[in-house]
Amino acid sequence: MDFQELVRARRSVRKFNDEKLREEDLEKILAAGRLAPSGKNLRPVELIVVEDKDTVAKLAKAKSAGAAFMAGAACAVVVIADSERSDTWIEDAAVAVTAMQFAAADLNVGSCWVQCRGRYLGEGDEAVSAEDNVRALLRFPERFSLLAMVALGYTDAMPRPRGLDETDAGKVHFECYGGGKARAALDPERKRV
Ligand SMILES: Cc1cc2nc3c(=O)[nH]c(=O)nc-3n(C[C@H](O)[C@H](O)[C@H](O)COP(=O)(O)O)c2cc1C
Repeated sequence: MDFQELVRARRSVRKFNDEKLREEDLEKILAAGRLAPSGKNLRPVELIVVEDKDTVAKLAKAKSAGAAFMAGAACAVVVIADSERSDTWIEDAAVAVTAMQFAAADLNVGSCWVQCRGRYLGEGDEAVSAEDNVRALLRFPERFSLLAMVALGYTDAMPRPRGLDETDAGKVHFECYGGGKARAALDPERKRV
């Protein structure tokens, strides 16, 4: 897919069909995560690939909201990073998630980011962090922190690509904040708000 087409096609998919993820597609998606850049090239990010249906379903219960849909995914890629190794582990892990989502979109594989950092199961004194829940299931060492999980799978309902006209061109500034009105005329897809 042409890159401009790809950035429009990448959408969050939360409804998957029963098809197992093809090995060659999974490998390409993981390659994108492994090749993602990292601060000072310290590469603190590691990926745990979970395809076992029962475990994916348990991961989908790691936090109170926004993860249940993952029970229907063919695969969950759990994105952890060695937070003792790099102070940019959050950014590094986020870049890896994004790279994998673009790779998935390119292959017509549906994907969705499932945020875990700062998320909990339950409320108040009873709350347990998503990280503790996922660590209990997957047994990664304490020095690793959990950023997110990426739900992956094929879908019969791929969301339509987003148009540039659905974005806010006013959030791009040229030369200084609020600058750039003259440029708007050059881009017919731009919308001023
Ligand atoms: C940092 C981040 C955290 C997200 N966390 C979740 C989540 O926990 N559950 C979920 O269903 N979607 C999650 N999403 C997906 C967003 O809801 C989605 O990207 C947004 O609504 C825009 O839709 P689109 O991805 O189709 O363009 C997350 C996205 C980002 C970038």
